[in-house]
Parts: sequence; structure tokens; C-alpha cells
Amino acid sequence: MEEKGLKRGQWSSTLGFILAAAGSAVGLGNLWKFPYLAGKNGGGAYLFVYLIFVGIIGFTMILAEMAIGRNGQSDAFGAYKKISENWKYLGVLQILVSFLILSYYSVIGGWVLKYVFTFLSGGIKGDKATFFTNYISSTNGPIIFHLFFMIATAAIVFKGVSSGIEKASKFMMPALFGLLILIALRSVTLPGAGAGIKFFLKPDFSKINGSVALDALSQVFYSLSLAMGITVTYGSYLRKEENLLGNAVKVPILDTLVAMLAGFAILPAVFALGFEPGAGPGLMFITLPAVFEKMTFGIIFGIMFFILVLFAALTSSISLLEVSTSLLVDQFKMKREKAVIILTVLLFLLGIPSSLSMGSWADLKIFFGMNFFDFLIYLTDNVFLPVSGLLTCIFVGYVWKKTDIYNQVTNNGTITFKLFKAWFGVLRYLAPVILVVILLKSLGFINI
Ligand code: PHE
Repeated sequence: MEEKGLKRGQWSSTLGFILAAAGSAVGLGNLWKFPYLAGKNGGGAYLFVYLIFVGIIGFTMILAEMAIGRNGQSDAFGAYKKISENWKYLGVLQILVSFLILSYYSVIGGWVLKYVFTFLSGGIKGDKATFFTNYISSTNGPIIFHLFFMIATAAIVFKGVSSGIEKASKFMMPALFGLLILIALRSVTLPGAGAGIKFFLKPDFSKINGSVALDALSQVFYSLSLAMGITVTYGSYLRKEENLLGNAVKVPILDTLVAMLAGFAILPAVFALGFEPGAGPGLMFITLPAVFEKMTFGIIFGIMFFILVLFAALTSSISLLEVSTSLLVDQFKMKREKAVIILTVLLFLLGIPSSLSMGSWADLKIFFGMNFFDFLIYLTDNVFLPVSGLLTCIFVGYVWKKTDIYNQVTNNGTITFKLFKAWFGVLRYLAPVILVVILLKSLGFINI
């Protein structure tokens, strides 16, 4: 194993890195949130805004984070510290956020795992909504499945960067693509699918306003796993000769492709079989099982669908776990195996209150009127994410030396980057302004 001794882990191939990074990006955000948001916010028009933001802000941030990581050749804390002593705290913040996110992400991952087993044993009998609510509000089941999901995540990270994360991503990502394409093909060819396709793609520009645009941008951040130390950490395992620019383009494209495919897999089927598309979180766990029930060979499609969601969730959770693991390995010189075990135990325990928040602790609204789960999501997605994104922009735009950045991004001038000035301008001016607006909106100071 490559991480033994003093040598750090490294990706064994460019493709491996791209699949791992895309794996982190592709997750529950793409599979249920994106199609639903697109539908709710004007279909094609939302897609249009989303694509512009991915192209401008998503690409910019991902490239910046990759550069910080490869320059640092260490965990997120070490990578920021290497450039500026004071900014190591940004690394700490990002590692902390990724840790908190994983604690509840794994609870949801556990639900997905439960659904895989449920479909393998014949699907959900009776009312789907009742099944879902009864399940997530029960006590032991979801906690046990959260544990199983955490163990699966840990087992991959345990094996290291190239023999664990890279190998798993190289298997799970192509499988995920294949399954998603199959389901999308089935969905768009159902009689009556046209309405759903139109719903997803037809631009309704009148629906676009400031709030929709900001929602789209938050979704870009979440979907690309930005500002959580992930791309910094994954970037640190890149070799010096790797072309960062090319990678920073491919990862967002793959992520967006999956989001769009998910739209095609879900919305036309939902329409064709007479269901409501605007169900939000329930779309995946309640509406889709009902859709599969009405489909010929639906149980097979159901099994395939939840396995692909499981793969998407796992490739994201391993990236989240790797962020804290690399901190313990690089800064505390801990053995990877030991680090993973310690973190897994802590994450399992921290996930328990989240899981209970759907059931016996649901009314325990002691955190600003929210229960533990909702509070954690609010804190990470709405507060820490924009704060950390903003600080990252300031860090790269104003703290890190411009010539050093240029050299890092272009491999000492050997790669042409004609848009360097524009890219740097986005980091310096445009992105920070937008992030401040998002933050003010999240905190309720402005209402647009
Ligand atoms: N990007 C993932 C998604 O789209 C979510 C995620 C967030 C993964 C943060 C890792 C870190 O679902």
C-alpha cells in the first residue's frame, strides 16, 4: 500500500483522480435535489442559469482548490498553512464542516442502503409514504443502517488513496453512469413521458429571479463539493505534471451531466405514470418507489436505481471521510488505519442524534427552533459553506502570491491559460460579492 511509511498517497492515473473527484461531486444533490429544483424553478431556464454558474463560479473554485491542494501536498490544514500561517484556520474550518456533513450524510446513506435491501426483497408493499415515514422515524433500524453505511465508507478509505478510493471510484462511477443511462432511456420512452421532458427542459424565463439564481448557485457549491477541503485534499494527491486546467473542466462537466441524466431518469417517468414532480425530498423515497411499482419490470429498475444512488452516496462519503483522515495522517502522523477507525466511531456517534431527529427527537427544537438534523444541515449548507467559499476566494485572490498561483495552475508556464486574468478576476471580485449576497440571504438579512 502506497501510504505506508513516509510516502503520501497518490492517484495512479488522471482518470482515477477525475472519477474520484466526480464521484465526490455526484451524490444525492444530483439525484434528487437537482431534478426537483429544476422542475420547481422553471425547467430549462433554471438549467440555463445553473450551467452559467457552473461554468463561471464552479470551474473557478474547483481550479483554485486543486491548485491549493497540489501546492500544499498535504491535508487541507497543511495546504493552507503552507501558503499563510494565519490561514491554516480556514483549513480547520473546512475539515470540521466536512466532518459534520458526513455525520448526517451517512444517516441518509443508511436510508438508501435500506431501500436497496427492500427492493432486493420485493419492493415496498402498501403505501410508500407511510413506509418511508415509519422507517425513518423508528429508532434502531436507521441507526444500524447508518452504521453499515459508515462501515462501507470506512472500508474503502481504510485502504488508501489509490488502492481504496481510486479503485472504488473506478468501479462505482462507470456502473453508476451505465445504470443511470438505462433508467433514463426507460423513463423517456414511457408513453406520456413527453410532458416530463418538456417540464424539465422548456425554459420559462419568467420564473427566473434573484432567489432562483441564488438557489442555483448554492446548488452549484453543494453539488461540486466546494469549500469543504475535498478538492484541496484530493488535489494534494496529484502529481506535479498533472494538468489542473483540464481536470477542473472535466469534473464539473461530469457532475452536470449526471444531474441532467437524473432529470431525464426521474421526471418523465413521474409524469408518465401520473405523479407529482414537486415532492421535494419525498420524490426519491416516496414517489419513485410508486413509479417503479407501476412500471413493467419496475422492481428491477428499482433495484438498479437504489444501487446507483448508493454508489453516488458512497463516492461522496469517502471523499468527506478522506478530508479528516488526511489531517490525522499528515499532521498527527497517525496510521491511516487507526485514523479511519477513530473517525468512524466518532461519526457514528454524531450521526445518532441526526437519525433520532426524524423520530423520538423530532420535537426537540432546541437549536434556534430547529431539531438537531435540520440545524446541522442549516449550519453546514447555509452558513459554513458560503463563509468558507468566501474565505477561499479571498485567500486565493488576495493572500496567495499571484505569480505563485500562476505557476501552480500552469505548471510553471508550460500550460497555456489564456483566461488566467478573467479567472483571477472572478475569484477576486465576482465570486466574493455573490457569496456575500448568498450569506446575507441565508442569515435572513436580505430577502430577494
Ligand atoms: N456533492 C454531493 C452531492 O451532490 C454532496 C456532497 C457535499 C458531497 C459535500 C461531499 C461533500 O450530493
